[in-house]
Amino acid sequence: METKKLNMENISEAVTFLKDGKLVAFPTETVYGLGASALNEEAVREVFRAKGRPSDNPLIVHIADSSMISEYVDNLSEKACLLMSTFWPGPLTIILSLKPDVLSANVTGGLMTAAFRMPDNEATLELIRKCGFPLVGPSANSSGKPSPTTAEHVLHDLDGKISAVLDDGSTSIGIESTVIDLSDLSGIPTILRPGWITPAELSDVIGEVRLDDSLHDQMAVPKSPGMKYKHYSPKTPVVMVGDSEEAWKNAIEWVIDNQLDVGLLAQQRLLDTYDNAAKKTYQLSIDRNIQEASHHLFNGLRTLDESGNLDYILVQTYPEDGKSMGYMNRLKKAANRFIFSSKKGEPIQL
Ligand code: TXA
Ligand code: MG
Repeated sequence: METKKLNMENISEAVTFLKDGKLVAFPTETVYGLGASALNEEAVREVFRAKGRPSDNPLIVHIADSSMISEYVDNLSEKACLLMSTFWPGPLTIILSLKPDVLSANVTGGLMTAAFRMPDNEATLELIRKCGFPLVGPSANSSGKPSPTTAEHVLHDLDGKISAVLDDGSTSIGIESTVIDLSDLSGIPTILRPGWITPAELSDVIGEVRLDDSLHDQMAVPKSPGMKYKHYSPKTPVVMVGDSEEAWKNAIEWVIDNQLDVGLLAQQRLLDTYDNAAKKTYQLSIDRNIQEASHHLFNGLRTLDESGNLDYILVQTYPEDGKSMGYMNRLKKAANRFIFSSKKGEPIQL
């Protein structure tokens, strides 16, 4: 099948495809999503097929208006209402308990809950309004690959497998939404996936929040099914470099000693210092800046991976807190937790 590139001007073609049960990738402020009608079970099945996604991994239901939720959820809690009015449209996904039998099991992964989000992108909000039904939207990449932040990334992975991509340039944030579980009304709201909206920002609005155990204990089973899979991995192995000058010196010494071809993904000062030892470089940010780094992470991984025949991609790390939590969560998965520390020698696995 031909995959059409559409924009705001011919958005009605995207609407027609979605109403016919076809797949259309859509832009958001985080990453591109692979859209299909959340109410069409066969279309949702196609989403899993196109991505090669494990079938027990539930999908986010994207809405254009908070009132759309009342079809699926009874009695929104006060905390849910506060989060929705504060952060929507925006990069926050909220897990809520469902009314019985309102969404098919392939949307929910057979759970009694579903994930809802209102993306902050005018084209996509218009698309959903014109469709009149919510859209499922996993990231529009082949399962396991870095999430797409441009329409070109979507086409790279899914050209010929989906009807269209609605192109709105590169996404602003660059990593997927923060996921918070509010389905247990008597429990403490739990962050299942860190993102640009931080635990502190959430607790400013709804009081105490906690991190799912799996975010600090590798042995704990994640509550979000998607967090257990291998993710964000380009073909080229990725290794993190600790947030210190010694860690960078160790990494570069190891590259030179082993005569390796590496790509560097880091801020400009680090590239200036170490680019003699690198075959390729990609600027993660001009100065040290986590917003810019998050925006460029997936594009940088994809670009260096495509640049050919690298043995490794070495990537700058940040401390794992606040705004850097989302970046570090994705990077650690991409690197399978391998990092150069300030101790001399091979990378170690965290
Ligand atoms: O920013 C985003 O969230 C993007 C854009 C396109 O909206 N979408 C996205 O979708 O990242 P996806 O499918 O790649 O990630 C959804 C995550 C997965 O980790 C999934 O397991 C989790 O949300 N999830 C979905 N429904 C859930 C539920 N009912 N309970 C727990 N986790 C759930
Ligand atoms: Mg994804």
